[in-house]
Amino acid sequence: MANRQAKMNSTTTEAPSTQLRCINCGAVPERAGQDFRCSNCGDLFEIVLNLRSPAGRASLNNDVLKQLWRDRKTSLAPADTSGVWRFRELLPTLKGEPITLREGNTPVYELPRSARTAGMQTLRAKHQGMNPTASFKDTGMTTAASFARQEGFRWVACASTGNTSASMAAYAARGGMRSLVLIPEGKISWGKLSQSLDYGAVTCQLRTDFDGCVRVLNELVKRKPIYLLNSVNPYRLEGQKTAAIELLEQLDWHPPDHIIVPGGNLGNSSALGKALVEMKDMGLISRLPKLSVIQAEGANPFFRSIREHGGRKLVPMEADTLATAIRIGNPASWKKALRVIDATEGMVEQVSEIEMALAKAEIGSDGVGCEPASAVTLAGLKKLVKQGFVKPNEDVVLILTGHVLKDPEFTLQFHRGDLFAGTPYASGTPTLKPQQRAPLVLDAEVEAVLRTLEQFEAET
Ligand code: F0G
Repeated sequence: MANRQAKMNSTTTEAPSTQLRCINCGAVPERAGQDFRCSNCGDLFEIVLNLRSPAGRASLNNDVLKQLWRDRKTSLAPADTSGVWRFRELLPTLKGEPITLREGNTPVYELPRSARTAGMQTLRAKHQGMNPTASFKDTGMTTAASFARQEGFRWVACASTGNTSASMAAYAARGGMRSLVLIPEGKISWGKLSQSLDYGAVTCQLRTDFDGCVRVLNELVKRKPIYLLNSVNPYRLEGQKTAAIELLEQLDWHPPDHIIVPGGNLGNSSALGKALVEMKDMGLISRLPKLSVIQAEGANPFFRSIREHGGRKLVPMEADTLATAIRIGNPASWKKALRVIDATEGMVEQVSEIEMALAKAEIGSDGVGCEPASAVTLAGLKKLVKQGFVKPNEDVVLILTGHVLKDPEFTLQFHRGDLFAGTPYASGTPTLKPQQRAPLVLDAEVEAVLRTLEQFEAET
């Protein structure tokens, strides 16, 4: 212990410097405008960790860093108990205390039943739905909201399909800021909407879709001093990066062969991929896992961009899927996501509504559960295995992005068998039967319950 302490003291572990850089024209502004778009070309910014310079490299020693991150797990300081700020050496430097709800620190689970349905020998999932507001958004919100407060903003705002808004409202409340939520009317789950109400956000249900909400918000931030907390804000992605760092730590720094993630606005895949590339550049990992993105067939602009245009352009579409979290037709971060697909040699796939619903129940049958958008990962994995892109003996980690309780209406309708009633997907529903467990209404008699048990055992 004394030795280790001495070693830690002798090596600096200061964060390397960071700068904003436009992903298209390379402009490096001192600070971003309120819309987080490059004033030269209108494209997005990324935060560049200065790892490649001799000074940047010299400041970090990988063994010391790994030990330091592990040691912080036993610390009681708020920043250390956060599974995001624990990795602060790889984040932009915050001057004061972070706004934290002890986000991150999410579990990695074995999914044996789901593995069998996908034809895999083993399968694991990192459950980002086990964050404080029950989605992966918290890991990015703790960073971006903290920087908003550092810059002195009173108001923060986002357009959302529900999870970003729930998370933003919570972190704004914790940080003493006001929050404005723009969500598509009638197209987000009640669970998510009720969270932002309880956390005190001004919540506006706009008569449009998510992409329409983004348009309104982009105009709004140009007119009022409001800090934009959508994932075009690169500080969000820096926080979301830590899910990949934490995953590798949980795997004792042995990279899996594949990481599979749902794709909506494509911020999360961009963030996870950025972390993988940075960890590889630093030598924290020896090789890159392949990062693959799965979209719903009805909200598949990224999939189409690659299949139809070789990734050269993205044609916005009107999105429609029951996985409301990823009902997005014009994803802001598609160029960043494309870069990480290329860098890691991953794939982009799409899955049907039926495939997604079945996969969600299968993840549930492993005792884990997730929200519909997260289940596209298992449904997509099945396709990637059939195509031979993923081999049955490879090491795969699914990123589950939201908790099963986020969208109970979907789950109840699934088990009652009326999720797809009256939709073009109704003919596919017989394949769902084995996973359906409708609640039973019985007389309050032991006999009635016993008969039900016997019938269940006879059928299964
Ligand atoms: N899974 C869940 C549960 C989500 O809430 C989202 C996005 C995604 C996956 C897709 O992630 O956009 O980074 O590609 N939800 C956003 C929101 C858009 O407003 O809550 P992405």
